[in-house]
Amino acid sequence: MIKGFIFDLDGVLTDTAEYHYQAWKRMANKLGIPLDREMNEQLKGISRMDSLERILAIGNQTEKYSVEEKEQLANEKNEDYKKLILSVTPNDLLPGIADLLADLKKENIRLALASASKNGPVIMEKLGIADLFDTVVDPASLANGKPDPEIFIKGAEQLQLKTEECVGVEDAQAGIESINAAGIFSVGVGTKEMMKNADYAVSDTSELKLSDILKKATN
Ligand code: BG6
Ligand code: MG
Repeated sequence: MIKGFIFDLDGVLTDTAEYHYQAWKRMANKLGIPLDREMNEQLKGISRMDSLERILAIGNQTEKYSVEEKEQLANEKNEDYKKLILSVTPNDLLPGIADLLADLKKENIRLALASASKNGPVIMEKLGIADLFDTVVDPASLANGKPDPEIFIKGAEQLQLKTEECVGVEDAQAGIESINAAGIFSVGVGTKEMMKNADYAVSDTSELKLSDILKKATN
């Protein structure tokens, strides 16, 4: 029986995935590195520092900067990103998410956040959904980020549930791999091609219906 849902944030609950892309794109331009939406798919779900490393690798610039300089670049991107999220309000919940969360609460299903983002708690407050969640996995506590299963395993542990009692929801390929490796039923939001490894995939958050998900997860 499903007793818990573990959500990714960026690109699932709200469209901050787009803001991450815009901020990285600006940084990549500054560094003279081409970054397009297709490359950006590989950055989704990946920590701030790892994302910077991937961008530098695209531009063959991995050796160009010291650790301190890399920290400064990552910080600069984050300051840029923080400006973009200033305007986030409850209206920025993606279509269908408010209803899905309400249905989950009605069924007494426990909720966890498993986001790689250190800005997660602030965004949850701005969206007005922080109080609905029972627990948030601290990304700073992780030895390994997505696609490693650690973050979703911790999410289940923090909910005091077994992984087979949970559903994980993701928009990133690395995130789906993480959920699958944790032994959790994976729900993917995105194109069929991108979400081909998800146990159940929808193309849009408006299609995330609790009854459909529970039917698939308990089949
Ligand atoms: C993930 C995003 O949720 O969080 C990534 O998908 C982002 O794009 C990562 O890099 C880390 O976020 P932050 O806010 O800590 O830089
Ligand atoms: Mg995401």
